Amino acid sequence: DLKELINKLRDTQTLSKNEWIRLIDGRTPELADYLFENAREVRITHYGHNVYVRGLIEFTNYCRNDCYYCGIRKSNLNAHRYRLTKEEILDCCRIGYELGFRTFVLQGGEDGWFTVPRLADIVSDIHKNWPDCAITLSVGEMEHDAYQTLFDAGADRYLLRHETYDEAHYRMLHPASLSALHRQNCLWDLKSIGYQIGTGFMVGAPFQTTENLADDMLFLKELNPHMVGIGPFIPHHDTQFAEEPAGTLELTLYLLGLIRLMLPKVLLPATTALGTISPTGREQGILAGANVVMPNLSPTEVRKDYLLYDNKICTGDESAQCKNCLAQRMESVGYHVVVDRGDSLNK
Ligand code: SAM
Ligand code: FES
Repeated sequence: DLKELINKLRDTQTLSKNEWIRLIDGRTPELADYLFENAREVRITHYGHNVYVRGLIEFTNYCRNDCYYCGIRKSNLNAHRYRLTKEEILDCCRIGYELGFRTFVLQGGEDGWFTVPRLADIVSDIHKNWPDCAITLSVGEMEHDAYQTLFDAGADRYLLRHETYDEAHYRMLHPASLSALHRQNCLWDLKSIGYQIGTGFMVGAPFQTTENLADDMLFLKELNPHMVGIGPFIPHHDTQFAEEPAGTLELTLYLLGLIRLMLPKVLLPATTALGTISPTGREQGILAGANVVMPNLSPTEVRKDYLLYDNKICTGDESAQCKNCLAQRMESVGYHVVVDRGDSLNK
């Protein structure tokens, strides 16, 4: 009868909250295999065997926020802080363009040094130099006007995970100055401005219940984003969640498959965190329905400092190595990295 629910999801892209809970709680290895077969079929219908790449540039690890799970939270005094200069960021893009990247993702903490005019200046320089590339920003919560200015400067896309839909759960993961509703409102602002938006959450975050996950699925359905980034929560030794267990590969893959069936045309990355909890996590993510990978383009010297969680992979590699490594990994499971902006078909 749970297979029937998977069929229903595949055929109608919609489930009730109760059905989501049953489908998540009732999962078995056999059911997961059935889900992944369906998810791959849907993925191949829309995206073939192509895998899109995004060059991730982690340009600052200063952050004004204090999310309890995050290794670069403000109150982690052991974090070694850095920010890249504009020239360093442009160098990353130059290297990335030669390696075949047509999307650059500028991600960082909420760093007051990077004011909106400074960010807009960097975005517009990237836009001028590489007009055939998409520019994705991932720099947290801002006012509508700030998002608009950055969009006008040439940013196309914005990644902002909603983290968890439920306000009470949100408060267990963040200080009181932050709220789930404010973050969701940022996503609606970004969408109304015209950004292609990405949202998502951590699988197995502390205190997360199946009901929370069901709410997350319903929120994703309502928001209908262009991209959904989910990855396992992984503890960081300098946070209060240091002793919490990491999210599992098994549940992350299962949710990837479910998201593929719910939003057939969405962009779905197999994340670095997934590759961190299992050596073949990203390959398995692709086989569960994912279609994006995000190799690191940050300068090697700073990578070990952008430590959101422990044992993060790729911190010692050159950008070219990282790109080639991922290209080979995708080939090993029958998929191909392509040179393409990789715009979402989910419009
Ligand atoms: N400051 C921006 C923001 O708030 O969206 C972007 C950077 S933030 C570090 C990027 C994402 O990292 C968060 O949305 C969160 O889901 C993820 N993250 C942070 N700590 C993590 C952890 N311990 N395990 C897994 N993912 C984590
Ligand atoms: Fe970065 Fe393999 S993906 S080294």
